[in-house]
Order: sequence, then C-alpha cells, then structure tokens
Amino acid sequence: MMSSLVIYFSRSGENYFGGELKDIEKGNTEVIAEYIQEIDNADLFKVEPAVEYPADYMKCIDVAKKEQQADARPEIKETLESIADYDTVYIGFPNWWGTLPMPMFTQLEQLDFSGKIVKPFVTHEGSGFGSSQKDLAKLCEGAQIKDGLSIPGASVYDVKDKVASWVKD
Ligand SMILES: Cc1cc2nc3c(=O)[nH]c(=O)nc-3n(C[C@H](O)[C@H](O)[C@H](O)COP(=O)(O)O)c2cc1C
Repeated sequence: MMSSLVIYFSRSGENYFGGELKDIEKGNTEVIAEYIQEIDNADLFKVEPAVEYPADYMKCIDVAKKEQQADARPEIKETLESIADYDTVYIGFPNWWGTLPMPMFTQLEQLDFSGKIVKPFVTHEGSGFGSSQKDLAKLCEGAQIKDGLSIPGASVYDVKDKVASWVKD
C-alpha cells in the first residue's frame, strides 16, 4: 500500500501578515500540513526545537538569523528515526531567511531518502522557496523531488483546493 508522511516545522506566536504583526495559535505551515493529512491520509511528524523560538517576532528573526549564520543544528525535542514505511514524504516549512529553519536540517540529515518521492511545500511572506530547493536536494539525496508548492502565509485558509490538486498531481 502507498503511504505518506508529512515532516514539517511551523511556529505559532507573533508573525507578520502583509505588514502587520499578529499573534497566531497555529502556524501557517501547520495549516497546510493538516490539509495534506486529511487529503492524502498522511501521517504527521512535527519537528520541534528543544528550545522554543521566542514568540516575539523580532527576537525570533534574530535568533534564526544567528543560527543560520553559524550553520547550526539546533537540538530537536524528538527525532524521527526512519521513513522506511513511507513511499511519499511531504516536507513543509516556513521560509526563514531564504531557506528552511535550521531544526529541519537537524532532522532531515538523519534520514535515508533513497528511493523516496519528496514533495516540498513552503509558506512565506514574499520570497517563495528562496534557496531552499537547493538545500533540499542535498538533504534528500537519492529522492525524486517533485514540483514544490509555495503558499503565502496570509492565505493558508483559502488554499485547500490548491493543496488538494497539488497532492493528487
Ligand atoms: C525567523 C523568520 C524568518 C523569516 N524569513 C522570511 C524570508 O526570508 N522570506 C519570506 O518570504 N518570509 C520570511 N518569514 C515569514 C515566514 O516565512 C511566514 O510568515 C511563514 O508563513 C511562517 O510559517 P509558520 O507560521 O508555519 O511558522 C520569516 C519568518 C520568521 C519567523
């Protein structure tokens, strides 16, 4: 049987929406991950940092920038050990400074992607995938990486149909 998994990162708290700061209970990427769970009957795995990012947006972007400059591998709460049971792996994340949040590197580097189908999706505030596709090609060596889905963070509640057609593609 074909089975799929969504590995994703998403942060709740304060975030920017079209130039305005808002507090959100559920991160944008998580909204999309849950659509995929429903549409493709996929399992979900959320990558969570051992030390939470600040809810304060400005503090968070600062911490994230420093981690990226240091090419850090922040500890994560729980590590997914294997994806052997899955044929298709969706990888979802917010664009953070042009690529994936560093905890996604921590997790993805520990998995064997050979022979897998990878479908990446990103939420963002204008930069789409940035350079993340190049990073994903390295992180998911051996996988067949399909066309990605890029969703502006402010529109996640309006794109379920779009997600469904991408999932079925
Ligand atoms: C630390 C940080 C860095 C970000 N960097 C970018 C960026 O470089 N380009 C962009 O378009 N959006 C950027 N954003 C906006 C997020 O990608 C966008 O709000 C996303 O939908 C958040 O997803 P989430 O709620 O699932 O965490 C950044 C947000 C944060 C918190």
